[in-house]
Amino acid sequence: PVLGVLISGRGSNLHAIIRAIGDGRLAARVGVVISNRPDAGGLEHARTAGIPTAVIEHKRFESRAAFEQALVARLVEAGASVICLAGFMRILSPFFLERAPGPVLNVHPSLLPAFPGVDAQHQAWTHGVKVAGATVHLVTPELDAGPIVAQATVAVLDDDTPASLAARILVEEHRIYTEAITRVLDATWHVEGRRFVCRSR
Ligand code: GRF
Repeated sequence: PVLGVLISGRGSNLHAIIRAIGDGRLAARVGVVISNRPDAGGLEHARTAGIPTAVIEHKRFESRAAFEQALVARLVEAGASVICLAGFMRILSPFFLERAPGPVLNVHPSLLPAFPGVDAQHQAWTHGVKVAGATVHLVTPELDAGPIVAQATVAVLDDDTPASLAARILVEEHRIYTEAITRVLDATWHVEGRRFVCRSR
């Protein structure tokens, strides 16, 4: 199976996926890495691994639909059958979700449904929760609200800063993203109501 990975920045989750494939922990290949920003650091991880990259800048398109159509076309060209958002900072509309050549996954740095949206780790720290975490979910039109595929918790320590908490959450993001992709590559998954169910993994 072929993954299409969408990034906007540093790309540490992309790097974790590339490493998992290299180590034989994930039976897939990345067919294309697409960034909506030309300066995304993560593009370098793709180039180093010999993965084709594409820069598709949202601001060069006259409409969201035109931008999303270009994303779809590049994913289809790469033969992608699972799409992984990895720090991709654009909201994808139903137009994209209806045309994407497979399920779309996202990683979010909180225990959803707590703290959706931007700066989730900072939101969690400010709120004073004692348990934080990471979530991988299927993308639906509602922001950060699709069926949950994998989650992991981290303890919030009294001397944490937003940055130290984010760093601990990131380790879990990297771990569960591979796990979630493996579950979605398993043909037996389905969604029951809001629940993602995969009997074999
Ligand atoms: C991660 O914290 C992810 O959960 C959030 O954006 C960040 C991306 O980090 N959506 P990276 O680009 O994968 O390093």
